[in-house]
Amino acid sequence: MSKNPTRVALVTGANRGIGFEVCRQLASRGFVVFVTARDAAKAKTAAAKLKKARVIEPLALDVATARSIKDAAAQVEQRYGRLDVLINNAGINYDTWETAENADIDGTVVETITTNLLGPWRVCQAFLPLLRKSRAARIVNVSSESGSLAHMGAGPPAYQVTKAALNALTRTLAAELSGTRILVNAVCPGWVATAMGGAGAPRTVSEGAAGIVWAATLPDDGPTGGFFRDGKPLPW
Ligand SMILES: NC(=O)c1ccc[n+]([C@@H]2O[C@H](COP(=O)([O-])OP(=O)(O)OC[C@H]3O[C@@H](n4cnc5c(N)ncnc54)[C@H](OP(=O)(O)O)[C@@H]3O)[C@@H](O)[C@H]2O)c1
Repeated sequence: MSKNPTRVALVTGANRGIGFEVCRQLASRGFVVFVTARDAAKAKTAAAKLKKARVIEPLALDVATARSIKDAAAQVEQRYGRLDVLINNAGINYDTWETAENADIDGTVVETITTNLLGPWRVCQAFLPLLRKSRAARIVNVSSESGSLAHMGAGPPAYQVTKAALNALTRTLAAELSGTRILVNAVCPGWVATAMGGAGAPRTVSEGAAGIVWAATLPDDGPTGGFFRDGKPLPW
């Protein structure tokens, strides 16, 4: 086990899209990065693409499976003994094909809650013992302005409800952890050209990831319990 080599980060859903780019940006800042994916082979392929310059660790982590989360935490514990940055990025189902009235509760809705809310929640629980061992830990929950109650109207129902709930989790956890060295924030990357955002989205993954990396690298007196895009507060 190599203890305390540098700062250690873990990103969920990191085999493509915004999560992959967050790994690239964190690695270029000198972090050891756990590039995780629900499929171990995808984690390896993604890590291999980033490997050249930095320490990149592929790891299987399916946020919808409690056992997988526990196994991943055990791996990080064994290899580094702590975690400095946790990015809850994995997300699914921008369900524009549904309305709240006709949404498939036992299908899409449960699936989306499992991944977008319970996933980050379980991941936080599993990794908090390791984050508490950090000198300065940061949790970033990748949310969306779609989850902002201030502006919420009709829209993808499962997605909107789960991102609003993720924001609530962010505030609750941040308040519980106030006075510790762990800062917890929610970040909207903006509308980004990925599989989820679609090719017509105006922002690049690099632009979307930058605001997440900002929250991951806040100074010790930085904000906690906030909701941001590009380092600027968003209304809840
Ligand atoms: N793109 C946008 O415009 C936009 C806007 C606001 C917020 N966001 C948020 O940004 C985050 C990343 O989105 P993206 O645009 O990069 O989406 P994406 O390209 O669709 O990528 C989603 C990632 O999440 C992974 N994932 C899905 N279910 C998982 C699970 N159970 N366990 C682990 N990983 C899982 C996917 O892995 P597989 O390859 O295995 O499916 C993939 O790596 C999401 O939380 C999303 O809600 C995106």
